[in-house]
Amino acid sequence: MRVPQTIAIDGQSAAGKSTLGALLAEALGYLYFDTGVMYRALALAALRAGIDPDDEAALSELAHQLVIDVTQPTVADGRQYTVLVNGEDVTWAIRSPEVERIVSRAARFPSVRREMVRQQQLIGQRGRVVMVGRDIGTVVMPDADLKIYLQASLAERARRRAAELRSRNIDMPLEQIAAALAERDALDAHVSQPAADAIILVNDGLTPAEEVALVLNRFVYSEQALENGH
Ligand code: DC
Repeated sequence: MRVPQTIAIDGQSAAGKSTLGALLAEALGYLYFDTGVMYRALALAALRAGIDPDDEAALSELAHQLVIDVTQPTVADGRQYTVLVNGEDVTWAIRSPEVERIVSRAARFPSVRREMVRQQQLIGQRGRVVMVGRDIGTVVMPDADLKIYLQASLAERARRRAAELRSRNIDMPLEQIAAALAERDALDAHVSQPAADAIILVNDGLTPAEEVALVLNRFVYSEQALENGH
């Protein structure tokens, strides 16, 4: 009998990866690690340093210099965790529309990804982790015990993103959000493919509580999952 020790959750922007990931990690007492924060931290640092998001060499050098740390929340302001870059709290700064605009471009370079993946694998090797991203089941933790690939319609994802932005007092028309998501989908498509052994979960119409219960019952604690050792 074995409960999955390493869980990979992948999927497109606003598919609900962080909601499911955080709830699963909480239920299991595992570390929740959202790898998107690393690419966002890099994008923020590039913006601040005036580095062109199309300059692979400069971005790769920056990726090697940044010390990115994710800790328990240090402020009770609705955050799931605190993100520190070279000691500075950038938890909300990495969610800005400016970062959103360039992050996919900065994340597309192989030399940048190699450094990010290396750091993510060090965390994965410790086990008892729910890791969330685009390429976790395919590249970062190809041997993960459980792989979930989340899907939701563009309309549903746009509604979720709008609600998330509203909660931070950012008002943006739904059509504009949907267009930005579609653009990110296209830019992220090269890394955002389900692993051959991933469970595809469509979560349109599921509440977070229903979704986490389904995953725990069917894929984490189910007899079959335990017998198969996944
Ligand atoms: O999940 P997110 O929206 O925070 O991700 C931000 C960007 O980082 C997104 O455009 C894709 C990229 N990303 C990636 O390429 N690989 C990952 N493992 C995680 C995120």
